[in-house]
Amino acid sequence: MSTEKDPEINDTEITPKEVYLNRREFMAASASAAAAAAFPALSGAESHSSAIPLKIEKRADYAGKEELTTYKSAVGYNNFYEFSTNKEDIAALSKDLRTRPWSVSIEGLIKKPRRYDIDDLIKLFPLEERIYRMRCVEGWSMVIPWVGFPLDGLIRLCEPESKAKFVEFTTLHDQSQMPGQRRDVLQWPYVEGLRLDEAVHPLTILSVGMYGERLPNQNGAPLRLVVPWKYGFKYIKSIVKIRFTEQMPVTSWMKAGPLEYGFYANVNPEVDHPRWSQAKERRIGEFIRRKTLMFNGYAEQVAPLYAGMDLRKNF
Ligand code: MTE
Repeated sequence: MSTEKDPEINDTEITPKEVYLNRREFMAASASAAAAAAFPALSGAESHSSAIPLKIEKRADYAGKEELTTYKSAVGYNNFYEFSTNKEDIAALSKDLRTRPWSVSIEGLIKKPRRYDIDDLIKLFPLEERIYRMRCVEGWSMVIPWVGFPLDGLIRLCEPESKAKFVEFTTLHDQSQMPGQRRDVLQWPYVEGLRLDEAVHPLTILSVGMYGERLPNQNGAPLRLVVPWKYGFKYIKSIVKIRFTEQMPVTSWMKAGPLEYGFYANVNPEVDHPRWSQAKERRIGEFIRRKTLMFNGYAEQVAPLYAGMDLRKNF
């Protein structure tokens, strides 16, 4: 990511037409799935027949009429530097990552620190489907039907102390399973953070699935963050620790390139990356670039969080 400028997408990444799931089919699938609590149109015939379906209790479409990115692209074109910097290699290299048993430690400035087994954690909250745009800082975007629960619910259970102002997230650190961690591409483990008010915002979710099924390893199984108005590098994968702090966490990307990657990382077409423009994006599966929207199209919901802030300084 740090060296790439608006990467060209080659032919192998463009999804063949026959596997296209168009919007109308998707909506029909969603309607019947509401009863079946799974995605009939997505199971079986497609390549992900071994995936585990999830029981979804609530559906919300925040992406308007935009077509979903195909499952094939979403699971085949990834950023997960713990495995490789080559997007097409991540799926194969991460296939043996052990995501069960898995525990998530919740700690720091809270009244109820705890270590959760991932399956106990998932059972605490009804699973929701949220269709969100995802815009990567590199200049490409997707539309993904995530499955997860609002982070706010978990934060309430923890009872943050009044001193807690930020939430820091950490990915698994295990070189034996994550070969990319043997190289110094980033300082490991991968760390991300949110301000507490961003973390409790209703759009912020912890995702455990996508396309109606458990998250594939390459997409951050078993638990990842999804913050749709921010660049994709905030969507930290395979989380093992959530810590509440008074100080702003120093994230992996801030350490790697402090002039290029800030703490906020809000999608903003008016604030360019020092090496490329952020005004437009290539939606995976499309040929013509489209305009990038302020806060990735979620300005109405999130702009008040940044009232009075200079977004050029707080990038
Ligand atoms: N999380 C970890 N632990 N390691 C990473 O390298 N890459 C980020 C983010 N989360 C990354 C990560 C970046 S740059 C992006 S764009 C998204 O994951 C990509 O998510 P996807 O592969 O599910 O599309």
